[in-house]
Amino acid sequence: MSHVEDWTIRRLLQWTTDYLAECGSETPRLDGEILLANACECERIELYTTYDEKAPDSVRDSFRSLVRERARGVPVAYLVGKREFYSLPFRVTPDVLIPRPETEHVVLSVLEKNKEWEGTGAVQCVDVGTGSGVIAICVARYIPNANVLAVDISEAALEVARSNVVAHEVQDRVELMRSDLFANVPQDAVFDVVVSNPPYISEDELANVAPEVRCHEPREALLGGVKGSEVIERLVPQSADHLRPGGCLIFEISPMLEEVACQIVAGDDRFGPPVVNKDLAGHARVVEALRQ
Ligand SMILES: C[S@@+](CC[C@H](N)C(=O)[O-])C[C@H]1O[C@@H](n2cnc3c(N)ncnc32)[C@H](O)[C@@H]1O
Repeated sequence: MSHVEDWTIRRLLQWTTDYLAECGSETPRLDGEILLANACECERIELYTTYDEKAPDSVRDSFRSLVRERARGVPVAYLVGKREFYSLPFRVTPDVLIPRPETEHVVLSVLEKNKEWEGTGAVQCVDVGTGSGVIAICVARYIPNANVLAVDISEAALEVARSNVVAHEVQDRVELMRSDLFANVPQDAVFDVVVSNPPYISEDELANVAPEVRCHEPREALLGGVKGSEVIERLVPQSADHLRPGGCLIFEISPMLEEVACQIVAGDDRFGPPVVNKDLAGHARVVEALRQ
């Protein structure tokens, strides 16, 4: 008599890891674990305590459809509707960029800068291109005396940011506004910090990024223009209009834009010389400049 093997958690993970690897995932085991934990409505770590148990049919059904979508290239974060950033959970949908670990360096730069201002009263910050709201919310969570204006050109992105602001209980200190950069920000608004992870991919680069990114993440979150630097060209002078003397502009770049971004900052004599911070891989990632 042939023995039909049960679909245990272990066997589901092994099968899915092999399948997703064949489909081109670079992190097949991790993907499988996150999707299975989602189907089981448990934490990833809990899978290991039920490793040899048979998965119920309902779990297998929902896991199967998640794996099918993943095999088509849909990012895991969109399938489970969340992503961790700076050790906090955030809701994400296809209307927002999936927050990247590199962007945590932007938050770190703001927190470092804030150390110089500690004890000097409330910190006024604007996050330009807030997306899911990760930068604005981290700033509000980790700087208790910060008020943050979070702007985005996309109303759909602002809806996601709004739900994250409420989930993190910072609605009293994070205001959301639809705006093309500073267009709708009151002319007389003055900030201590302008922070941004602007779109900075060029048209050529976009044509060559992984299909998982190009086909699923919002184009307006990725594309900076033909050269990639067009949004930064507008962001820098508009930031100077709204920063107090001694205030700081902090923005993320692609390592390929390091020289161009520094030239744009250096070309506006309202800023001091730009300083570039590197990410963990040693790539130029964050530009900082002080308003003179
Ligand atoms: C690279 S994403 C960054 C999202 C989020 N801050 C993060 O780091 O994950 C850029 C964001 O800027 C927004 N954006 C693009 N052009 C803009 C503009 N002209 N004015 C305001 N926001 C803009 C996009 O909708 C997108 O949400």
